[in-house]
Amino acid sequence: MFEVLSNEILAPDLHKMVVRAPRVAKARKAGQFVIVRADVGDERIPLTIGDADAEHGTISLFIQAIGASTRKLVGIHSGGNIRDVAGPLGLATHIQNWGRVACIGGGVGTAVLYPLVKALAHAGNEITTIIGGRSSPYVILVEELSVLSKDLQITTDDGSMGRKGFVTNALADLMKNPATRPNAVFAVGPGPMMKAVAEMTRPEKIETIVSLNPIMIDGTGMCGGCRVDVGGEVKFACVDGPEFDGHLVDFDLLRDRLATYKTQEERANARCVDGACKIRK
Ligand code: NAD
Ligand code: FES
Repeated sequence: MFEVLSNEILAPDLHKMVVRAPRVAKARKAGQFVIVRADVGDERIPLTIGDADAEHGTISLFIQAIGASTRKLVGIHSGGNIRDVAGPLGLATHIQNWGRVACIGGGVGTAVLYPLVKALAHAGNEITTIIGGRSSPYVILVEELSVLSKDLQITTDDGSMGRKGFVTNALADLMKNPATRPNAVFAVGPGPMMKAVAEMTRPEKIETIVSLNPIMIDGTGMCGGCRVDVGGEVKFACVDGPEFDGHLVDFDLLRDRLATYKTQEERANARCVDGACKIRK
């Protein structure tokens, strides 16, 4: 059992949970994730380790409550317990000093971006962080990221906060100016966003790393559920990733595979009434 120490709402349907998990907190590196089960027999949910405090034995998880299982998970209040937290899983982010780096976070992806920005800042990179959301309540971790970044830019689709438009509009301006053009780009967010970033940086030959979120089941390379196509090769995001060269990822295949269980997910959601989920075991 893993005790939930706090459960805070960061944005609509987005929770930050601090969980006691001392072994994970000690071993984890930026970019790694855990697989969580709220209770015995529940769905296994992959979650990036947003932050960790090895001294106090805690990890922070950012959870978007979009389906029946994630809604059940965020319903566990402070003082409650999560049945399983397995990890750390996946490869750690390759961190080096590129000089100027742009870190792009779209919506909930900003939470996954946060530990990468932290590690890149500690390695001495000069970071421009661009974060976007559909409107101001969806823009998260502004203070935390501004401390780590030389420049923090915000975009919203409706213009309610920062610049009106997508994160890619801000990236385009950054790339145009020789004084701000990045040597490497990290992008985490919805597939179409990461694809758009990769298409912008490819002709400019700017190294681009994306973090993929395919369906995961075991998280150990055994089930094949998380397979993605990278440069024409089959890769398993749980053991070969989750980060890959954005110029080589087949984003259309990722989109199609993410839609595989849409009907089942909709049915499971329909069985959830007022946050009380009756998930069939
Ligand atoms: P969203 O759809 O609200 O988009 C967030 C921001 O991304 C937008 O404000 C915009 O700036 C940018 N964006 C979106 N589409 C774009 C496009 N076509 N071109 C350029 N920029 C674009 O995102 P959300 O609802 O917060 O996030 C949900 C999505 O994020 C889901 O698809 C989920 O699977 C994905 N996600 C991915 C990761 C990951 O590790 N890659 C992690 C969490 C969530
Ligand atoms: Fe099963 Fe990656 S989640 S192989």
